[in-house]
Amino acid sequence: MHHRLAFIGFGTVAVGLCEILLEKAEMLENLGLTYEVVAVSDMIKGAVYDEEGLDMTKLLEMASSGEDLGNYPTGIKGMDSLATITETNADTIIEVTYTDVKTGEPATTHVKAALNAGMNVVSTNKGPTVKHVAELTELAIQNDVQYGFEGVVLAGTPVLNLARYTLAGNNITGFKGIMNGTTNYILTRMEEGMSYEDALAKAQELGYAEADPTGDVEGWDALGKVVILSNVVLGKRISIEDVEREGITGISMEDIASAKASGERWKLIGCAEIEEDGTFSASVKPMRLPLSDPLAGVGEATNALTFETDELGPVTIVGPGAGKRETGFALLIDLLNMD
Ligand code: HSE
Repeated sequence: MHHRLAFIGFGTVAVGLCEILLEKAEMLENLGLTYEVVAVSDMIKGAVYDEEGLDMTKLLEMASSGEDLGNYPTGIKGMDSLATITETNADTIIEVTYTDVKTGEPATTHVKAALNAGMNVVSTNKGPTVKHVAELTELAIQNDVQYGFEGVVLAGTPVLNLARYTLAGNNITGFKGIMNGTTNYILTRMEEGMSYEDALAKAQELGYAEADPTGDVEGWDALGKVVILSNVVLGKRISIEDVEREGITGISMEDIASAKASGERWKLIGCAEIEEDGTFSASVKPMRLPLSDPLAGVGEATNALTFETDELGPVTIVGPGAGKRETGFALLIDLLNMD
């Protein structure tokens, strides 16, 4: 499929996708994916639109050197997000603005505008999916376009596609996983004796943590993913208020040592379950896992998720949950899967 792409937001994840598109152009063409970038609109980096297409290498150079995209040699400059969605010849919007899981904005407005304008959307933004995934999926169907959001849970590790395609034919009755890299990294370092504060600082330095790390350490980021998986995979209609939440800030070095002495490990676990009588429960909280649990062996910033299925029993996928190329790749999966 050929895409005329417009980027709404041009931060780390967008750059990750652009790098993959450039480096793998030949492989992607063999897979049926061709593209041109016609517009970029970023609140800080500026905006440019050229219906004939933009040079992606030039865009990346400008973004990395901090040069305003308004200095691009051709095209129309300064269009805001909504103008870029409604007034350009793009047919696929890449929505990668900042995430706000409490309001879902401004990303939800962008996604709705694009779907209503008959454009495909791919996004790694958790905000719209946490708040409105059913409504947006329906809107895409009504407008005969596609809304891809593989990257909202575990970045490019293909959790949603695994459930939707590869595990199709199973009843999935629950899931349990490590869905936040920052907290897993902190717990891994604390087990080696590093203090919570030093481990958090290191996680921020390595770029795992959100701009405000409260979202990570208090469990909000994982909670958003539990809400999305419960809605998309388990078919529930729940919101953030329906999930019990506890972060890792209450875990002391003594707690870590005590678990270690008993052959156990603390992990921040997001999970949800539908019981046989239909009762549903979901939570994010620290749990002491025996070392025999597959999730106990997942350290550093790596994520993992186990689906409970009726035909196969537990099925676990392990992989990155954050990172520039790792999250950019999630957008690529969605582009490749469009038909
Ligand atoms: N801050 C998140 C994490 C990034 O640490 O996993 C992905 O949501």
